[in-house]
Amino acid sequence: MNYGQNRSYGGRSRRRRRQRMMKTILLSFIVVLLVAGTAILLVSLKRISEREENRETSPLTDTVDTSAQTTPEDTAGGVLKEGFITKKFTPEELHRGDLILVRAGAPYVFPEKMNLQDLYTGRKKYDNGARAFQISTADLELDSFVLSKLNEMTETFYETTGERGLLVKSAFRSEESQKELFDYRVERDGEKEALKYVARPGESEHHTAMAFDMSVYKDGANTYISDEEEYLWIYENAHKYGFILRYPEEKADITGIAYEAWHFRYVGVPHAYYIYKEGLVLEEYIELLRNEHAYDDIHLTVESDDGISYEIYYVPASESGDTDIILPSGYEYTVSGNNTDGFIVTVKLS
Ligand code: DAL
Ligand code: ZN
Repeated sequence: MNYGQNRSYGGRSRRRRRQRMMKTILLSFIVVLLVAGTAILLVSLKRISEREENRETSPLTDTVDTSAQTTPEDTAGGVLKEGFITKKFTPEELHRGDLILVRAGAPYVFPEKMNLQDLYTGRKKYDNGARAFQISTADLELDSFVLSKLNEMTETFYETTGERGLLVKSAFRSEESQKELFDYRVERDGEKEALKYVARPGESEHHTAMAFDMSVYKDGANTYISDEEEYLWIYENAHKYGFILRYPEEKADITGIAYEAWHFRYVGVPHAYYIYKEGLVLEEYIELLRNEHAYDDIHLTVESDDGISYEIYYVPASESGDTDIILPSGYEYTVSGNNTDGFIVTVKLS
């Protein structure tokens, strides 16, 4: 008799159970949605913050040149952060450029063709017939750009001091002429003494056409720049034209050559500035760039007296084939080999 009542009571109870179940499912669904939403939000926030961080530290942000083959490290210094390109340099190019170090153990690799110009016709002749510097023989030659810098320096010297006793005695030397000189000095002084002043054939900077010997001819006598007060201007200003006095007295143990008051070498303006101001020799400078100013390290900055700034960095040469060199886009730059194991990039900033 109570079946109907019982059925009706049983129906309400099932409904309540269903409602409770529905509530639980709905609540679980909402919880799952909330957890998933929060997780998605957190991941997005993390990504945004990582992107912002990269914008500050990576040189690649926004200005990546897609032609680049190699990626600078996040720590890559200076101008590379503003965008870069990559260029290939051949093993032959390791032996070219203003900064090649030619010395005992690092011979010059002669190119097929050199850009030589003779000093006899390459010097300026003033209206009064004067020349800013004299030459010992008519066949002296230098790299034509280096000669233009020698002209600039000596003309300023002459126009500033009125002195015209500078005398260039030796410039480019072929391997044969270095051999003649070396053999003569070995014959005269013995090999040990000869090697203090004359490089072995093949290992002389004179082969590069970027080095020359300059002394003074005054009052009918030959003297050295170091002996003539008016001529010290040359030592104090040569770096402004890209020249260094290559074999200073106190660094003979590093260069392997005794003091030569007469031997100048062109290395380029910013490098000559740094070498002169810091009292280095080319060996020390190359080592400094290699050890402390690699492309992914802090680059060297140099400012010359005329307010031009340069950024300089070193790239090790590949031991098997071409070297990919990362270069700043949108800046003037030069690349020089060091003649042994790397390249030096010089960027003109302003
Ligand atoms: N006098 C320098 C060292 C040379 O012979 O190249
Ligand atoms: Zn010399």
